[in-house]
Amino acid sequence: MDEAKVMEFVFKTVGDVGAVLAGSLVVIGDRLGFYRALAGAGPLTSAELAERTGTAERHVREWLAAQAATGYVSYLGDGRYELPEEHVAPLTQETHPAFVVGALETAIGAVQATDRVAESMRTGAGLSWGDQDHHVHVGCERFFRPGYVNYLTSAWLPAMDGVAERLEQGVAVADIGCGHGASTIHLAQTYPRSRFLGVDPHAGSVEAARKHAADAGVTDRVVFEQSTAKELGGSYGLIAFFDCLHDLGDPVGALRAAGEHLDADGAVLLVEPNAGDSVTDNLNPVGAAYYGFSTLLCTPNALSQEAATVLGTQAGQARTTEVAHEAGFRRVRRVAETPFNMVLELRR
Ligand SMILES: C[S@@+](CC[C@H](N)C(=O)[O-])C[C@H]1O[C@@H](n2cnc3c(N)ncnc32)[C@H](O)[C@@H]1O
Repeated sequence: MDEAKVMEFVFKTVGDVGAVLAGSLVVIGDRLGFYRALAGAGPLTSAELAERTGTAERHVREWLAAQAATGYVSYLGDGRYELPEEHVAPLTQETHPAFVVGALETAIGAVQATDRVAESMRTGAGLSWGDQDHHVHVGCERFFRPGYVNYLTSAWLPAMDGVAERLEQGVAVADIGCGHGASTIHLAQTYPRSRFLGVDPHAGSVEAARKHAADAGVTDRVVFEQSTAKELGGSYGLIAFFDCLHDLGDPVGALRAAGEHLDADGAVLLVEPNAGDSVTDNLNPVGAAYYGFSTLLCTPNALSQEAATVLGTQAGQARTTEVAHEAGFRRVRRVAETPFNMVLELRR
């Protein structure tokens, strides 16, 4: 055995301890306005930051030191700390494509399920999305919203065949597994002539989505219902699954139901994690994050339902295409991608 490799591994795990804690420290920094106060302010002492944010200096001093050790803020060596300008958008700009707080908030929410997931692994039971910590629900909305705001209506829909044009003219749209409704509301704001139904089985998410729709002033064209993918009724020109197909206990059944409720020119928009097709393809930092979320959130949710086909978060395009074919969609086309998502258009 190579003793140096033992120590190398131990140091890697020390980094992971810091990473687990970093999620919590970022959520604190976000909530208390530390990053927003540091942004563009130049070097600040802990007393100055505490004063500007109405917080207690001794706590803030420790937070700043931890943030400097993790590389989130810079320490100038004289008691003053600075937020590098390159970190401002990722830590303070809610709809910027580089915004990272939502992902870290989801992560700290996900780890709250550690004991329950361990027990589920013993018994084979599942754990539903709605039973996760509230940071998961809020974090997920904040994690995915920048993708919708920046790419959905400007890049993903225009890349689909005739779909953006139909939305502009006015068509019915269903957003399956809509969560807090970030995608539904963004669509409604962009296409005021269309009508939108968001469905999700989690009561708390539906309630939050309704509130966000009211705040955004789009309740004249957006309705949210508490129901599952397979309970869908009506007829739609577009049915979207944003980062949720892999969470479902019966993704084939859900897509089959969608196929039955598309109008003659209707299409399905499937946004899924941009994973490779094999485990080997996903052994990288994005894969580590997504397999972690899959183990704590997505796979337990699917196992809490029918568990007919449990895809896992990183099923990849080949497996997802098989599922779409099985559900009756003959054409599956990758129309766009980001480092985190692949965007597929499904046609019957
Ligand atoms: C990862 S979240 C994505 C939420 C939202 N689409 C977004 O992009 O922010 C997965 C969502 O799927 C929902 N979900 C779980 N099982 C479902 C089912 N059987 N039918 C419809 N939605 C479901 C969950 O409640 C959760 O809101």
